[in-house]
Amino acid sequence: MESEKFKRPSPADLLNLIPAESIDTTLLIKSFDKWVKGDEIGNGRYGKVYHYQTPMDSIPECAGKHLKRMQLWNLNDEGIESLKKRLINFIDELNMLHKVSREYSERIVQFVGCHWESKKIILFTELMSHGSVKEHIVHQPLDENVAVKYFYQAAEGLRFLHHHKPKRIVHRDIKCDNLLLTNNYDVKLADFGLAHYLAVDDDSNTMSMDMESAGTPLFTAPEVLIGEKYGRRADIWSLACTLVEMLTQHPPHWEFKKKHRERTNYLLVEKARSDPDKQLKYSGHLAPSASESVRRLLSSMFVKKERQRPSIDDVLHVFTVAEADGNIIDHAKLSYLETKIRTAV
Ligand SMILES: Nc1ncnc2c1ncn2[C@@H]1O[C@H](COP(=O)(O)OP(=O)(O)OP(=O)(O)O)[C@@H](O)[C@H]1O
Ligand SMILES: [Mg+2]
Repeated sequence: MESEKFKRPSPADLLNLIPAESIDTTLLIKSFDKWVKGDEIGNGRYGKVYHYQTPMDSIPECAGKHLKRMQLWNLNDEGIESLKKRLINFIDELNMLHKVSREYSERIVQFVGCHWESKKIILFTELMSHGSVKEHIVHQPLDENVAVKYFYQAAEGLRFLHHHKPKRIVHRDIKCDNLLLTNNYDVKLADFGLAHYLAVDDDSNTMSMDMESAGTPLFTAPEVLIGEKYGRRADIWSLACTLVEMLTQHPPHWEFKKKHRERTNYLLVEKARSDPDKQLKYSGHLAPSASESVRRLLSSMFVKKERQRPSIDDVLHVFTVAEADGNIIDHAKLSYLETKIRTAV
């Protein structure tokens, strides 16, 4: 018989750490009675995404992201405390996200709720019937007018987050995978913040979500790569990378990743820290077949010094919105932005 001393500790139980009652009841999906789990529709860093049919008239279908299994075994007291802290932050964020997503349903994917079990967390969002923009560039890049439309709509979503009160929100993960498309091919932003709460390792190293790659470094602003404090302008950099991705199928310096593979993150940080002449070059040349105005817009967003980089309002300001012709870059406004950046200190 196993003695008391050598008894294997039981795994931590998410329901013991955080009682399901601490989650807003409007957010908690307690039972899956009459729900139907369908096909896998995506696979991201934090878990797989499945199609679900629900018994709710208002939301007959949704997408459920099964968060990757957490390390719940062999946690010492410190590990348990750290996990608990993270889960509390995560739930706070969950409540906040639910509220925020409802404030701008045109450009932010709606958060439906979450399911919380002893060992499993599933996050439900509205189903975006045309998937992500990424799925639409697998075989060929987007036409420029479509790319500019998606870019503009993503920027509208960011404007809302960046001006959110009382707390401004930085998305932190702008890329084609997180631009989802409605029935009418309009963009909504997905996945700001949340999963990172459970993924980021702190000093205790007791829990990580087994990230294949830390972050999405090819979209990451220089100040983030080198570990400086960062804010909303980091999203501007990622948005510019996303426009390059739409126009060329890949983010800037994709060949760098292909060449260096698992060393990419490390080398990108090294490069970002090196002398200016050794750093990777970012400008409109990254989308060589784009129109001159799009290339100029990209160059004005790829400003390495965060303080000189345009704000989301500056970016949106260069467009003239004409219903019939879509979003058009106004040359005079673009020149104004270029001068503003040149003279910024
Ligand atoms: N609400 C949704 N409706 C339709 N498809 C979705 C939805 N959410 C996610 N997907 C699909 O699942 C894929 C994976 O999404 P997921 O958010 O898990 O990972 P990701 O976007 O690749 O990376 P990240 O973890 O950085 O967000 C998306 O690219 C998209 O194709
Ligand atoms: Mg995503």
